[in-house]
Amino acid sequence: MSASSEAIPVETLRWRGTRLELIDQRALPDRLEYVGCTSAAEVADAIRSMVVRGAPAIGCAAAFGIALEAHKQRDRPPRKFETAMEAAFKTLAASRPTAVNLFWALERMRGVLAANHDPNAAAAKLAEAALALFEADVEANRAIGRAGAALVPDGARVLTHCNTGALATAGHGTALGVIRSARDAGKRVSVIASETRPYLQGARLTAWEMIQEKIPVTLITDSMAGHLMSLGKIDLVLVGADRIAANGDVANKIGTYTLAVLAEHHHIPFYVAAPFSSIDTSSPDGGSIPIEERGAAEVTGYAGMRWAPEGVAVANPAFDITPAALVSALFTEQGVLERPDANKIRSLFER
Ligand code: MRU
Repeated sequence: MSASSEAIPVETLRWRGTRLELIDQRALPDRLEYVGCTSAAEVADAIRSMVVRGAPAIGCAAAFGIALEAHKQRDRPPRKFETAMEAAFKTLAASRPTAVNLFWALERMRGVLAANHDPNAAAAKLAEAALALFEADVEANRAIGRAGAALVPDGARVLTHCNTGALATAGHGTALGVIRSARDAGKRVSVIASETRPYLQGARLTAWEMIQEKIPVTLITDSMAGHLMSLGKIDLVLVGADRIAANGDVANKIGTYTLAVLAEHHHIPFYVAAPFSSIDTSSPDGGSIPIEERGAAEVTGYAGMRWAPEGVAVANPAFDITPAALVSALFTEQGVLERPDANKIRSLFER
């Protein structure tokens, strides 16, 4: 496996024209296996069941889901085609609520469909559009990586949360993409990966990706972060985002807010890396972002093993909100936005 980011070693989504292949992220790190999808419903199932996860990867998968459905329905009369496509949009939009990239991608695909009335032409254009969104995500991540890497000092020990790498995107990654870019620029970087309770994206996925890339990684439980910061063992915190509100508040994996508060207390920079497709200017602030509530079994045990007593009440919000005031800088494909706020976010869209 190449140590350079140029090769995109992890192929999270493989587009085969009439079939989408997804790395089954539920099987990692034990097995590297692919799941095949040929319809919007199958892609929606893959998103819901976490075969594919991570905000930009979910958006790309949904776009391919629309392309697959259009291919399947392309020989139907225009009215029936339209009805089937409407159902496909609904099914995909209902798969997960928090990552705005899903709705962003569906919106773009809707625009392509609206401009093409003939089903066969629409199917061809939707496939092209999905592939273009996928390719644009890789480019965006590389640009985010270049921008963010400038703020990663040589020798930095970077605490990251959840998984924001090639597995969570079309390739390269957002926060992990910044780490890859910093390494490619010749900097010595090491990663401290929080395990990310309860679904363990850090322990299972980030640890695996960093090992593939030969980037030094140390796994900690989420509750160890404050202690390590107090000992001066973390130089910066770098995370991704599932949705950034118009005022710069950030929805990301549960536990992110805790890390931001700890970073502020210890005067450690707290950086967020995300593409424009993660910014939702129609959500005025973090309070208006829907937070996914997941099943109790993720908290009471893992992989069939149960450690909590039967009958205990469980809360399992999958994301939290970090107020913009705790964000030292936002890295996007347009560069570095220090201390993001409503005016600065608005200016991003006016450039
Ligand atoms: O529940 P998940 O695994 O889909 O959550 C993913 C995250 O919270 C990531 O940090 C976020 O999507 C950014 S990925 C580049």
